[in-house]
Amino acid sequence: MDIEFVRSRFIKHFDGKTGNVYASPGRINLIGEHTDYNGGFVFPGAVDKGIMAEMRANGTEDTVMAYAIDLKDRVDFKLSDPNGPRASWARYIYGIALEMKKLGVPVKGFNIAFAGDVPLGAGMSSSAAMESCFAYGLNDIFGENKVSQWDMALAGQATEHNYCGVNCGIMDQFASVFGKAGCLMRLDCRSREFEYFPFKPDGYRLVLLDSVVKHQLAGSPYNDRRRSCENVVKAIAEKHPEGKYETLRDCTWEELEEVKEIVGDEDYKRAKFVLGEKDRVLAVCDALNEGDYEKVGEMMYKTHEGLSKDYEVSCEELDFLNEIAKEDGVTGSRIMGGGFGGCTINLVRNDLYKNFIADAKKCFNEKYGHEPKVYDVVIGDGSRKLC
Ligand code: GLA
Repeated sequence: MDIEFVRSRFIKHFDGKTGNVYASPGRINLIGEHTDYNGGFVFPGAVDKGIMAEMRANGTEDTVMAYAIDLKDRVDFKLSDPNGPRASWARYIYGIALEMKKLGVPVKGFNIAFAGDVPLGAGMSSSAAMESCFAYGLNDIFGENKVSQWDMALAGQATEHNYCGVNCGIMDQFASVFGKAGCLMRLDCRSREFEYFPFKPDGYRLVLLDSVVKHQLAGSPYNDRRRSCENVVKAIAEKHPEGKYETLRDCTWEELEEVKEIVGDEDYKRAKFVLGEKDRVLAVCDALNEGDYEKVGEMMYKTHEGLSKDYEVSCEELDFLNEIAKEDGVTGSRIMGGGFGGCTINLVRNDLYKNFIADAKKCFNEKYGHEPKVYDVVIGDGSRKLC
């Protein structure tokens, strides 16, 4: 994907004029899954793949002309239409434009063409890449860049909530906006404080194996998981009216045990995973500071187990990829992102890499009739203007 490719389509599909070009990445997450909406910690980084968009004000009051280059699909709509467009990709444009308006950006009509190389439905957050990219462009074109990075990330999250039906946390949009080449970021989702962690694991590398099982969070049990966590917080808060319980971050293991009977098995298991994950992210931070990648890997396997058995967001194919990693002596492996399909993220020693990839392809192909896709992780920069 390059600027000239996007530009040629922008010129062809609209009035021949050029605009500005913006880019935002997808993300990986080393550890800290489903902790963001529970006020916990996450450990994401932006990747070198994402969305690129050319945009330009078109002189109309509120007509948006949009072209999805990869889908060869054109949709025109008005920002004043209360229903907005139906095409799911166009809803990201409509949603983010309205959210940026709420932040005081006087968005008017614009033309936009965009393309991406972040795989769709692989759990690398192609949707956050779109939201961040469009937010950055609208802020630049109409808003004199007055909207802060945090507000752009929050506008992306609000787009998911209000226009796309996914009650997500802030991790993906945060990573896409704030990413920095070579660095992972530890974000405290409650206080929104974060730190950049240079990530150069000597002798290891990160690789994603994409099961190509379709991952769709809208209308998925993702929102149910969030509801389970909220139920547990509510039950604990009712038992302790003197305390302040906003998310599972505020709850202890003892308090969870106290409400076990009240909340039932399923919600209990969900919360158990989240409390464990909260501890694991902190353990990984310490391990990274000490350069102890074996410990990091151990935590990744534990996370996988929890996501599979307690949070129940894995699937047969991802569990299979995780098993292969274990058998091949891979340091760490787990399902990444929201779940219900997508990829595993693997921390692999350089000397085992070749064998692991060959093995995973062969075994997966024998069982499921196709190979998993392989993406070597390169940690890249966040949202930016290219020209
Ligand atoms: C999706 C959501 C994020 C986060 C992850 C799970 O990617 O968009 O907010 O909850 O799932 O960690």
